[in-house]
Formats: sequence, C-alpha cells, structure tokens
Amino acid sequence: MKRTHHCAQLSLSDLDATVSLIGWVDTIRDQGGILFIDLRDRKGVTQIKLEPRDNTELAGQLQQLRPESVVEIGGRVVRRPAGTENPALPTGQVEVVATTLVIHNLSETPPFPLDDAGGDKVNEDLRLTYRYLDLRRPKMRQNLLLRHRATKAIRDYFDAQDFIEVETPALFKSTPEGAREYLVPSRIHPGEFYALSQSPQQFKQILMVAGVERYFQIARCFRDEDLRADRQMEFTQVDVEASFVTREDIYTLFEGMLKKIWHDVLGTDIATPFPRMAFVEAMNRYGVDKPDLRFGLELVDCSDIFRNSAFKVFQATVAGGGVIKALNAKGLADLTQGEIKSMEEVAKSLGAKGLAFIKIEGGEWKSPIVKFFSEAERAEMTRKLGIEEGDMIFFAAAPWEKACAILGRLRLESAQLLQKRGKLDLRADDWKFLWVIDFPLMTHDEAEDRYVATHHPFTAPVPEDVALLESNPKAVRGQHYDVVLNGMELGGGSIRIHQPALQKKVFEDVLKIPRDVVESRFGYMLKAFTYGAPPHGGIAFGLDRIVALLCGTTSIRDVIAFPKTQKGQDLMAQSPTPVTARQLKDLHIAVVKPE
Ligand code: AMO
Ligand code: AMP
Repeated sequence: MKRTHHCAQLSLSDLDATVSLIGWVDTIRDQGGILFIDLRDRKGVTQIKLEPRDNTELAGQLQQLRPESVVEIGGRVVRRPAGTENPALPTGQVEVVATTLVIHNLSETPPFPLDDAGGDKVNEDLRLTYRYLDLRRPKMRQNLLLRHRATKAIRDYFDAQDFIEVETPALFKSTPEGAREYLVPSRIHPGEFYALSQSPQQFKQILMVAGVERYFQIARCFRDEDLRADRQMEFTQVDVEASFVTREDIYTLFEGMLKKIWHDVLGTDIATPFPRMAFVEAMNRYGVDKPDLRFGLELVDCSDIFRNSAFKVFQATVAGGGVIKALNAKGLADLTQGEIKSMEEVAKSLGAKGLAFIKIEGGEWKSPIVKFFSEAERAEMTRKLGIEEGDMIFFAAAPWEKACAILGRLRLESAQLLQKRGKLDLRADDWKFLWVIDFPLMTHDEAEDRYVATHHPFTAPVPEDVALLESNPKAVRGQHYDVVLNGMELGGGSIRIHQPALQKKVFEDVLKIPRDVVESRFGYMLKAFTYGAPPHGGIAFGLDRIVALLCGTTSIRDVIAFPKTQKGQDLMAQSPTPVTARQLKDLHIAVVKPE
C-alpha cells in the first residue's frame, strides 16, 4: 500500500510513468462506458480513467463504487486529449489510465454534499454530527492547515525572541472571581474540587517570580460561558508573560508577533505600529471597546443641543445627568418598517426605552418627534451630524455608557444593512488593527454595589493614579491593553502588580474581598511576591479568533476541529452524558436534578 505520488503531483513531466495513487473517490462520471474518477487526497485531485469494457472483474468492482470510498489505483500517466485539459488544477494536463483498482473501504452515501458550496448550505448540526466528513471539505481542510501554520509561526516567533514554552496545569483551584468555572471532583479528597483553568494567569505570574523572565504557552482554557460565534467553553490562548517590560515593550513585541503570523500564513504585510485609542474615546466614537475601524458612521454627542429642548424625553435625560447620542446612518433613509422594528428591538435588548429616529427623504425630516425641534436645534443637528438627503438618524437618550452601547450596536447593524444594499464594501481582508488602552481599572457593579476589576485583579494601576485607589476608584486607569481587529477583541493583557502590599490593598480595600477569603484564594501568590517578584506584564490572545479572521470566517467553530454546539454538546461523540451510579459514588457526588 505505497503510493508513488500524491493527488496534486502528476504533470506532463510524468508522462508514461507507472504510478500508484491512494485516496477518496471525489466524483464518478460515466461517459458511455468509460468511467472518470476524480481521486482526492489531502493534497488535491487527479483524474483517473477506467475502461472496464473487456475487464469483467474491474467492471464488477466499479459497479459497487460510490463517492467517498477509499481506493488504490495503479496505472499509467497520459496526456489529456486536446480540449479536455483543466488549467485550474495542478494535475489538469494529465490523467491516469487505470490498470488496477483495490477498494479499501466502500463508503455509504454521505448525508450531505462535501463540496464547499454544497456543505455551506447544510445545517451546522448535521456537519458537526458527521464532523469527519465535514472536515473532508476543501475549505475545512484549508482551515486546519492554516491553523497549523499560524501556530507554527507563533512558536517560531517566540523561540526567536528568546521565550520558552512552559506547560501549566489544567487542573487548578477554584477562583470564583472570574468567569464561571468547570469543577472536577476529587476522588481521594471527598467533597473537594479542582477547577479547570480559565487561563494560566496565576501560574504565569508565578513563573516570573521563579525567574523564567520570558514565558509563552499555547494553552487550552476552560470557561463555562454562554457560547457564541466567538466563544467556546474550551478554547486556546496564546499566553505570554515577561519580566522587566513596559507597556511600550509589549506593544512592539506583539505587533511583531501579529506581523509574522500574517506574513507567514497569508503573505500579507500588515502596517505597524498599530494606532492606539483610549477606552473613553472608543466608547464615545464607536460605542464599544472593540471598534471596527473599517468604516466611519461615528457616534456624535448631541446633549448640548437638547439641554433646553421642548422634546421632554431628551431634555429630561440631560437634566438627569444622561446624554443624547446620535448616529447618522448615511444613506439608510430607505429602511423598511421591518428593518426599523428590528433596530428598535436591538436597542431595547440593550436597555433602551425607545428608539427615536429621523428619516431625511424628499427634502423632508420625517419623524414623529420632529415637531418638537426648534429651527436652532435642527440647524445644530444638521451641522454636527452632516445631515443630507437620504440619511437616517438614530438617537439614544440614556446614561453615558448605555447610550454609547446602544448606538454602538446600531452602528454595526447599520453597516450590515448598508453592505446588503451595496452601499458599503466591508472586506474581511481589510486589516484594521488597534490597541485600546487606558481602561478604567475598576468598574462599578450596580447589582452588587461594589467595584469589580475591569480586566482582572492583578492589573497594575497607572502610576500617577495610584493615590486615587481608595478615594476615587472609578478614576483610576489600569495599565491594561487590548488588541482589536475589525470589531473583534483578539487579545488583552496588562502590566501586573508585583508589590504584595499593593496587591493586598486592591483585594481588600478596593475590591472589598474579606481578608480570610483573600488569604485562602490568593495567599500563596501574595507570599510568592514577598520573595523577589520582578516587575512583569503580559497578554493572552485568542488563537481561535486569530485563525478565524485569517480564514475569513466569523465563527471560531469553523477553525476548531471538534467544537461544541451553542448548547455545549459534542454531537458526534455525544457528550455530555449521564454517568453510572458507581462512578458518582466513587466521586462522593449526589445529583439533584432540577424540578
Ligand atoms: P481574557 O479573559 O481577556 O484575558 O482572555 C484573553 C483572550 O482570550 C480569548 N477568549 C476566548 N476565546 C474563545 N472563547 C472564549 N470563551 C474566550 N474567552 C476569552 C479572547 C481574549 O481576548 N489571563 C488574561 C490575559 C492576561 O492578562 O495576560 C486573560 O485570560 O481573544
Ligand atoms: P415618547 O414620547 O415616549 O412616545 O417617545 C417619543 C419617541 O422617542 C419614540 O420614538 C420613542 O421610541 C423615542 N424614545 C423614548 N425614549 C427614548 C430614549 N431613551 N432614547 C431614544 N429614544 C427614545
């Protein structure tokens, strides 16, 4: 069972050679008793010609042959007759006239077409149930290959930069401060649990205390979150930490990493350095901390215009400390009732009380609220928003962060609608990288009425803001940075706290975690910091997200060999499943089913 060539290899220079190929039957065509098979392997396809006429054994075998069967072909390479060449294929000038055929495995008829176009139309659950067939599709095979190339570029880059890869445990202890965790029961410690690591954060900081200085890891992380297109319960981080670095060192190092990935994988030269934008500016202009910079449609603050407005909804919002934000969705005056309705639903799902809008059509401002606006207000709006014929203006009247978030989402929806109408050309390969910086160190959690770390509690404050930690935590900026690409958060990290006293103060005095809880959860870290902890910082990138963008897909499920569904299931192997009473007993676990 030895092939002489793979299926993308043969060309005119192999004419007359006796060859052996093994692969899958991609297609079978019967042309008046002569059969043509496209034989496929991981490299490509080669056309095989079979003339069973005076060979009854071959004819018998061919009768049972179906697409996706695995066959071994022996034969001779010939030039394709003039006019039948296929210039799109590397092997398109030749074909193999088969003399022998061995069928290694006869395939059932696949439940869906395995070409790219056919497979894309199929329900994703079916693709995931038969993932081994789905992965045979050229597009999916390409995605796996691309992921391999990206991973290799990353390992090569860090090796060249004198970093070493260190593995850290997947079984860690429970740290309920972050995302919800997966618990793993201990058999030998009844009633005690490990938690699957959400990220190697604490271990990589300990590695800095251990003197490793330059660490990286392609690390599997586990988070019990609601799954979405860009989120899986099990995902991979490119996790990095370094000692004696500043934020500027980090920016340069990771611009270099991304440059190398894009170069090695796509042959594309991305421009560095990336622009930087403060969190507040990103929110004000784009309504989100991960702005898509491929298009404009920026938000405009109109609070001043409506401070004394006759339109009470706006006037009262400003009087109450809120803001009026507006978005000129240029050229969207032709939105249908249905499209406006769904925009309103999006706004309401983010807590909007309503969605005021104005259509500029036939030289008129069309909206039930226009009657409340004075000439001066209309003139100011026209000036600030650049209002023209054909525009659609949306408003959000709410507290600052909420108003930004509502219009930030409507900005993205508007871009989709403009794209659909051919008025905007959003290209997946228009790479707009951005550093988002100057995040607030703490965010106030309204529900619990306390401060929580915006990123995580190990992020260091900006030095000049340290004095405000207790008196005005809201005003303290963190040394935190995110890398954003085309509206997706690719990675985030920070310079860390390395002095035990400051770390303790953040836990106890700012985050208000009781002292005994701090001791049991983080005591070992605080202790480690008392033995010569170097100043350090790092970052983690979502590898799945990087690869998805490189592949031009919006779903990370397309770049993970065996992902879970939105409901957290593996439809192929069928998990999760119940376990036996015996297993539960060994683990000292009793299951209480919901009512
Ligand atoms: P953070 O929680 O921001 O930081 O995660 C870093 C990056 O990991 C990716 N990511 C995910 N990808 C897929 N599915 C998920 N459920 C998921 N969650 C996160 C994102 C994100 O930007 N320890 C810190 C990093 C540090 O400070 O160095 C951390 O984990 O791309
Ligand atoms: P009302 O006076 O409540 O009927 O609202 C008049 C218009 O303003 C309607 O189109 C509402 O959807 C819209 N609206 C109400 N509250 C807000 C808000 N907070 N932000 C934006 N639009 C609003």
